[in-house]
Amino acid sequence: MQLAFFEIEDWEKEFFRNNLKNHELLFSKHNLKKRNIDAIRNSNGLVVFIYSKINKDILSKLPKLKFIATMSTGYDHIDIEECKKRNIAVYNVPFYGENTVAEHTFALILALSRKIHLSYDRTRVGNFSLENLRGFDLKGKTIGIIGTGHIGQHVARIAKGFEMKILAFDVYQDKKLAETLGFRYISLNNLLKSSDIITLHAPYNKDTHHLLNSKNFHMIKKGAYLINTARGALIETDALVKALQQKKIAGAALDVLEGECYIREEKELLKHKKYPNCDLKTVIEDQMLLHMENVIITPHNAFNSQEALQRIIDTTLDNIKSFVRKKKCKNKVV
Ligand code: NAI
Repeated sequence: MQLAFFEIEDWEKEFFRNNLKNHELLFSKHNLKKRNIDAIRNSNGLVVFIYSKINKDILSKLPKLKFIATMSTGYDHIDIEECKKRNIAVYNVPFYGENTVAEHTFALILALSRKIHLSYDRTRVGNFSLENLRGFDLKGKTIGIIGTGHIGQHVARIAKGFEMKILAFDVYQDKKLAETLGFRYISLNNLLKSSDIITLHAPYNKDTHHLLNSKNFHMIKKGAYLINTARGALIETDALVKALQQKKIAGAALDVLEGECYIREEKELLKHKKYPNCDLKTVIEDQMLLHMENVIITPHNAFNSQEALQRIIDTTLDNIKSFVRKKKCKNKVV
């Protein structure tokens, strides 16, 4: 079979070369676009990450394509209906980074609680003053976890190790889990009122758009910290900026931002006449957040550990092999 890989790093290339010796493999570090499709016209399999948009147009140019393996959990970059019509199987990687994202969440919490970012900046210029660097203990503080799925559960486990009190809000309540991990489910408003640290681990969809917004931000306990490693648009950026400016909340740590695609690449802003997922105001407010001392921003990096990436390519290899060997596979989306 001819298999075409996109968005591939050198170490991943080596891994697939060593494990798929009987196949013709084509690699590109770029994402798949119309302009680089000629080289893969005869490919039977396609392996991509989320920046390759596999739409109807692309699929129509790949007449021999039999399967797509995306190296991600989400597959909204692939036109699934069109794949169904063309009888193209699609595979994903449903789990790979529960502990990874939870560990990053705590990296952010500890950075805020011990002012690591400010300390680091200071000592690098030879200043060893402790002024304004006093932090706070996590022990005894209350963490409010919004979304107790794979990642939220790990956050609860780690929080337990720090001897924190744990509250949770989820539309689906797993009472057994709560009992095992020793936490309590309460309403979102009560969680906001009672938590010293609020951390988001719910998916982004139409129901969770601006889950934290100008109507409920005032419920948040004064002086609380807000952590978001889930999706930027779970928080109404305008409400967050105002709460920080008014010192209603003491700080925030964000791995994801509403409109982050436009922060990443400012040129993207110029390409669009309309801004599909965010308005210009949000992008400007993101810039304001970037410059606040009590806000820590990481570049959607929570998943990015060596072990998580290894789990992604191991699962992708299993997915490819199960297609080739015509074996049943639980990661088959269609
Ligand atoms: P999951 O699906 O296992 O858990 C999500 C939980 O949120 C479920 O328990 C669900 O019932 C709950 N939920 C759904 N709607 C809710 C609502 N309206 N209010 C409260 N809870 C609600 O997902 P998982 O694996 O824990 O991931 C959570 C999110 O983390 C993902 O959706 C993704 O957006 C984000 N993520 C971020 C990464 C990063 O690198 N920053 C990497 C991986 C995931």
